Amino acid sequence: MHSLNPADTSQNAVDSTGESSRLAPEHRKRLEELYQHLAELRDRSIGYPCNQKFDYSELYPFLDLTINNVGDPFSGSNFRMNTHEIEREVLTEFARWTEIPDDDYWGYVTNGGTEGNMYGLYLAREIHPDGIVYFSEDTHYSVAKILRLQHTRSIMIRSREGGEIDYEDLEESIKIHREVPPIIFVNVGTTMTGAIDDLYKIREILDRLCISRYYLHVDAALSGLILPFINNPPPWNFASGADSISISGHKMLGSPLPCGVALARKTHVERIARLVEYVGALDTTISGSRNAFTPLILWHALKQKGEIGFREIILNSLKVADYAVERLNEIGVEAWRHVNSITVVFPRPSAALLEKWILAPYGEIAHLIAMPNVTRDTIDHFVDDFEKDLITGSKAPKTDETK
Ligand SMILES: Cc1ncc(COP(=O)(O)O)c(C=O)c1O
Repeated sequence: MHSLNPADTSQNAVDSTGESSRLAPEHRKRLEELYQHLAELRDRSIGYPCNQKFDYSELYPFLDLTINNVGDPFSGSNFRMNTHEIEREVLTEFARWTEIPDDDYWGYVTNGGTEGNMYGLYLAREIHPDGIVYFSEDTHYSVAKILRLQHTRSIMIRSREGGEIDYEDLEESIKIHREVPPIIFVNVGTTMTGAIDDLYKIREILDRLCISRYYLHVDAALSGLILPFINNPPPWNFASGADSISISGHKMLGSPLPCGVALARKTHVERIARLVEYVGALDTTISGSRNAFTPLILWHALKQKGEIGFREIILNSLKVADYAVERLNEIGVEAWRHVNSITVVFPRPSAALLEKWILAPYGEIAHLIAMPNVTRDTIDHFVDDFEKDLITGSKAPKTDETK
């Protein structure tokens, strides 16, 4: 762990002009306090899907360099201070896990799941300019914003109880607009409940309606790094018909910087590629300048853990999620989880508990996510707090709001 202690003279760096690059003591103290505050929150942060367990200290020397992955990772670029080669290695692994044919894949490391979803919807709109996007009401909030930005027509579909898309509502809606190619936004692990839309059922609907022009984008922000490592996963990837997939990197793998991976069929991407002389690269990505450090982080995680390591980590997280369900049920809290999901859903607790454990509420429910840094011990502490909260909550005098 880096020391931010102002008294630590080992970090008394001197730059090439002989000047000290250290901050004044009051500024260092400010950083020290911020660091301590954040480190303390980390241990109670169980509501959001951020794996906090990692050690990338071997990569710190790269922070001395201004590196930039501008351009297409597969096409080369004039700006050679990049990590494109490492980025391609990362993409090759993700391509294997998402079962996309070797000769028809393309992708890049994004700023996160949102950018990957934007990319998929952008490709879809370029291929079907008149298309309508169908997305369920449990879809991540950022998708509505992406659709507004892209001026794409869209229809929100009802969700079933549990968070999966309502297939009857989807079929009826597509039927009404059957002359227009559907672009279906498929959730593989919804934000609140970890529900997975069934790609086969969706394709059956399209077959029944004799629709041959369509696009399937899969948002697998969290589950995209769970499903490749479990036995008998549901249909979710390119082998099951996806045209593009977005996966977050900072969620399951763990990264101090937000990142993700966008993957798509190469034939789709070729339709939007433009050569830009200034950077000497194909302009296939959404951002121009791109983070060259995050591909190193993803690569480090892949090499350090390997496929066997990932399997163990996922299995353990599923066990911790089960343990959380059991322990919460024991104290009378109706907690549950979907198969293959590490998201544990329960009735919304008090504001104090939400705040203390940095939980994500949505209407009547809240959830915790058994990320690799969440242990049985963490769950025990959380359940103790929940139990106390139930007792004090039930004794608290009723206010107008709670009557
Ligand atoms: C299902 C889903 N999609 C997309 C996103 C957005 O991903 P990011 O935060 O990596 O941009 C999230 C984030 O929680 C998510 O849960």
